[in-house]
Amino acid sequence: MTRRILVTSALPYANGSLHLGHMLEQIQTDIWVRFQRARGHECHYVCADDTHGSPVMLKAESLGKTPEQFIAEVSAEHQADSRDFLIEHANYGSTHSESNRVLAQDIYRRLNAKGHIARRTISQLFDPEKQMFLPDRFVKGECPKCGAADQYGDSCDACGATYSPTELKNPRSAVSGATPVLKDSEHYFFDLPSFADALQDWIAHSRLDSAIVNKLKEWFEGGLQQWDISRDAPYFGFEIPDAPGKYFYVWLDAPIGYMASFQELCERTGLNFDEFWAEGATTEVYHFIGKDIMYFHTLFWPAMLKGAGFRQPTSVYTHGYVTVNGTKMSKSKGTFIKARTYLEQLSPEYLRYYFAAKLGAGVDDLDLNLEDFQNRVNADLVGKVVNIASRCAGFIHKNFGGKLGATNVNPALTGEFQAAAESIATAYEGREFAKAVREIMALADKANAYIAETAPWALVKAGKLEEAHGVCSVALNLFRLLMIYLKPILPATVAASEQFLAIAPLSWADSQSLLGEHAIKPFIPLMQRIEKDKIDAMIEASKETTQAPAPADAAKPKTAGHVQPGQVEAIKDTISIDDFDKVDLRIATIVSAEHVEGAEKLLKLQLDIGGETRQVFAGIKSAYAPEALVGKLTVMVANLAPRKMKFGLSEGMVLAAGPGGKDLFILNPDAGAAPGMRVK
Ligand code: 2FM
Ligand code: ZN
Repeated sequence: MTRRILVTSALPYANGSLHLGHMLEQIQTDIWVRFQRARGHECHYVCADDTHGSPVMLKAESLGKTPEQFIAEVSAEHQADSRDFLIEHANYGSTHSESNRVLAQDIYRRLNAKGHIARRTISQLFDPEKQMFLPDRFVKGECPKCGAADQYGDSCDACGATYSPTELKNPRSAVSGATPVLKDSEHYFFDLPSFADALQDWIAHSRLDSAIVNKLKEWFEGGLQQWDISRDAPYFGFEIPDAPGKYFYVWLDAPIGYMASFQELCERTGLNFDEFWAEGATTEVYHFIGKDIMYFHTLFWPAMLKGAGFRQPTSVYTHGYVTVNGTKMSKSKGTFIKARTYLEQLSPEYLRYYFAAKLGAGVDDLDLNLEDFQNRVNADLVGKVVNIASRCAGFIHKNFGGKLGATNVNPALTGEFQAAAESIATAYEGREFAKAVREIMALADKANAYIAETAPWALVKAGKLEEAHGVCSVALNLFRLLMIYLKPILPATVAASEQFLAIAPLSWADSQSLLGEHAIKPFIPLMQRIEKDKIDAMIEASKETTQAPAPADAAKPKTAGHVQPGQVEAIKDTISIDDFDKVDLRIATIVSAEHVEGAEKLLKLQLDIGGETRQVFAGIKSAYAPEALVGKLTVMVANLAPRKMKFGLSEGMVLAAGPGGKDLFILNPDAGAAPGMRVK
């Protein structure tokens, strides 16, 4: 029976570039979708940019752009990145679209009509200068528990405490620096608790991973709470019907963006929206997401759909985070790798393969170990798979006019490869891609062993041409079967192989047939080895000199109800005293400071460290006018390897503290310090 399936991956937030974490999710989704299609099912994969909220509004403003302009640019970038990773979105929308506005307002009206929306006045921190209410992440101050300075309004980086922004000591607005005041305003709440039974029912039927079910149990035990879905102007979003000056909180209309994007697809292709979204629809809907946004997708979203009279998702498939070389992606280590930075050096299929080879159905984190990545891709894909074709194609062309033999000389082996189709399919279906890859590579090993044992080159030499023909024909058939099984992961390589084999696009069902007498094309190199210098160049290009994000770069908050507080920059791995000793910190006089043309954040400094002058580009323009720096003392890392930047050579780094923006303080040692003095 042909299944009818709609699939989504989480809508990337529109205030920054895609990185390898996003790509893990899109690659996982895309592989699953391509697999379903190969099996002959109807499967639509839609996505969109998630565009609303304060971070986008403020970032656009800081760049001197309208939010609309800014999100259009980001969307173009995101779509190019996805496309170049061979992600096949049937539609890529935006949550700031007319279709999403209509759907969001409709859903809200339905919820409101059924009494699922409550209103009450709450008191929140307000920036009197900027005349706006401050989201938690835009208030900074001292932690109410441990007193650590410069903490966000929702949680403390130093002690891990979570609290409300009104509890911060000496709070200030990260937008303007002003001291916030408390101000009342009426907010709109979605009555999540009244959906407790409906949610339990959905959870029982939606085949969620056990780790998620356990988490949901905890949330239920802690008690569900009403969800604040409104924000006051100024806010970039959709106005709430009949509530002037009130906007939907970004997380309200974000998942509705899944529907809106699909609706655009329906309009373009004639698909029927209701067949996928009306209550009682028998089609399937799956959301692929990361574990940080489970609360939204397994509580708020199914409850909203239920309340508004739509179908609920068939399931929500959740994955873990990407780590690189065993630790959280880090800007300073160069392991916070943007999608484009990867693509500038490496082929997308390497990463598609590596992620697939390590992906299971659970929420475990996935480590991109760069050495293992290189070895595995080279050994498996180049060494084992492509090698089968390159070893045999030459003989077929040289000795047999480019034609495969009519007789299958090893039906046992081809039969074994064909029989594997079902268990490999079961692994793909269950998102156990690592298991699928293991089975495929075990087959590739068998194909190589067969070639090594039968040694067609020796047969040719010994004049046993017919035998050699038989062996090479079997081997190329085995190669073709491997291509069928790898097609969801390696669409480009398989397309090139289809050309080389001179066959129509392969589907899963083709695994049950073989090529008999058939003319193939000359072999074309299908894949190059990964060279280490490409990986090194990618890491180098990912290194950033300044780490502190500007407030407008703060990620969209993911705190809601009982969700863990938004991610905070973790303390890095410990280093030994010897490591620390390698860092040569020196007092320096700032001899000159000037703007750098074309650089948004940088100042060019000349630093005197006692007889030697160093040129350093520092990302401190948001906090300092150049003239305010000249003659001051600072601390610099004097033995940092010089880095060639777009604007010239940077020969060190100045130390600064703070969250970024205006709040960035270069260290300014007391009088008495002299240039060149070592700091310990
Ligand atoms: O976590 C995020 O990046 C969100 N932009 C995901 C939204 S998914 C969906 F709900 F729109
Ligand atoms: Zn604290």
